[in-house]
Amino acid sequence: MNKENGISKILIEEKQINEKVKELAKRISDDYSGKENAPCLIGLLKGSFIFIADLSRYIDIPIEIDFMIVSSYGNNQIGSEIKILKDIDVQLSGRDVIIVEDIIVTGYTLEKICEVLKTRNIASLKICALLNKPSRRKVNINIDYNGFNIEDEFVVGYGIDYAQKYRNIPYIGVVS
Ligand code: IMP
Ligand code: MG
Repeated sequence: MNKENGISKILIEEKQINEKVKELAKRISDDYSGKENAPCLIGLLKGSFIFIADLSRYIDIPIEIDFMIVSSYGNNQIGSEIKILKDIDVQLSGRDVIIVEDIIVTGYTLEKICEVLKTRNIASLKICALLNKPSRRKVNINIDYNGFNIEDEFVVGYGIDYAQKYRNIPYIGVVS
């Protein structure tokens, strides 16, 4: 069995992803350099694990990293059904926070997380996403660091799964 079985096409090559991740990391480094407190990157598991691993290594200022796990029931149609399964461990009061997400579709997941984090007395909140499907958006989300806008196709790879598979594919592909 080949790990690429079932992938019908490559949407974004490894090299393109790498260049984009570097570019986002540079923008983050520039925006937060000289700040007294290191920003805290919060990766949403599991989909963002490769993205945040690469992104963080290209950021050349001090940062902290933590993770959250958010449940997404079924197809995420109802925002209120999104629950936090694992919260962060660090104190966020007074901190600059950057949420790192694999892909934003309806925006319900991010809306919920922003709502929760905004009750924690943080200094600022920004969003960094590798992929964005604007055609499927249901709520307004301002993506501060946006990787690629894509069409409404089901994508996998670079951490993103279909039924928990394909996360270890190094490019973004479309499942047939
Ligand atoms: P939403 O923005 O709340 O609708 O949810 C986005 C989440 O849905 C992502 O974090 C993924 O976990 C999942 N998702 C959406 N589109 C895809 C896709 O094309 N492939 C894999 N997961 C997806
Ligand atoms: Mg996700």
